[in-house]
Amino acid sequence: MSLEFQAAAPPLPEVTLIVAATARQMGIGRAGALPWPMLKREMAYFARVTRRLAPDGGLNPHTARNAVIMGRKTWESIPDRFRPLPGRWNVVLSRGKEEEGQNPNAVTAQSLEEALTYLGHVKQKEDGLGRVFVIGGAQIYGAALEMKEARRVLLTRVLSKFECDTFFPLKLEEGSPGWRRASQEEMDAWVGEEVPRGLQSEGGTEYEFEMWERVD
Ligand SMILES: NC(=O)c1ccc[n+]([C@@H]2O[C@H](COP(=O)([O-])OP(=O)(O)OC[C@H]3O[C@@H](n4cnc5c(N)ncnc54)[C@H](OP(=O)(O)O)[C@@H]3O)[C@@H](O)[C@H]2O)c1
Repeated sequence: MSLEFQAAAPPLPEVTLIVAATARQMGIGRAGALPWPMLKREMAYFARVTRRLAPDGGLNPHTARNAVIMGRKTWESIPDRFRPLPGRWNVVLSRGKEEEGQNPNAVTAQSLEEALTYLGHVKQKEDGLGRVFVIGGAQIYGAALEMKEARRVLLTRVLSKFECDTFFPLKLEEGSPGWRRASQEEMDAWVGEEVPRGLQSEGGTEYEFEMWERVD
């Protein structure tokens, strides 16, 4: 499917980045895949959070969906049977010229601005858009962090050590300029559930859930 819209540009929607990254280096990938073995509960959290509509959004739960925006390489890293990610608008960023039938299950956009403009139209026309998540990889996180629409990062901080070759382009730690860590209560309220607290452990990999907000 390709983008087809011509009306005047609507306001761009707010964006939340969601990422799992190693504690200090912010490593997110290795050889085109995740650096760590499958973390089932962490992936279930990702699915719940990206699917759940905002509690106070006033949207029709039968028609509205959140959106996930990802780079072409991240799209290709998802096994065929799991994509598009169900129950969400899937938008894939690629600068390449779309070939007929290349991506029949997702919208393709040539820039993040184009993706957000498209989603702004979805919101306006069909009232069908909830939250917008940027789900990676590093190149798309980088593009998103340059936009003022990127307000928040849901970070799974992986405390175990893994070798990585791809990195989240921002270090989120106490004192990071322009960012503050939200409290557990703020994170619960935004996410819409009681997010598991403190150190989590799955198959020997340790991690914790955090939320960071941009401070203007
Ligand atoms: N830990 C996590 O939470 C997490 C999340 C997601 C991904 N990952 C990992 O991250 C790695 C992939 O990240 P990556 O940075 O290599 O690739 P990526 O960001 O997923 O995709 C890169 C591709 O996206 C397109 N692209 C990049 N910037 C663009 C822009 N501004 N406008 C339009 N298109 C753009 C280009 O596609 P074309 O070449 O087609 O032009 C580019 O080759 C994998 O290892 C994956 O497993 C980790």
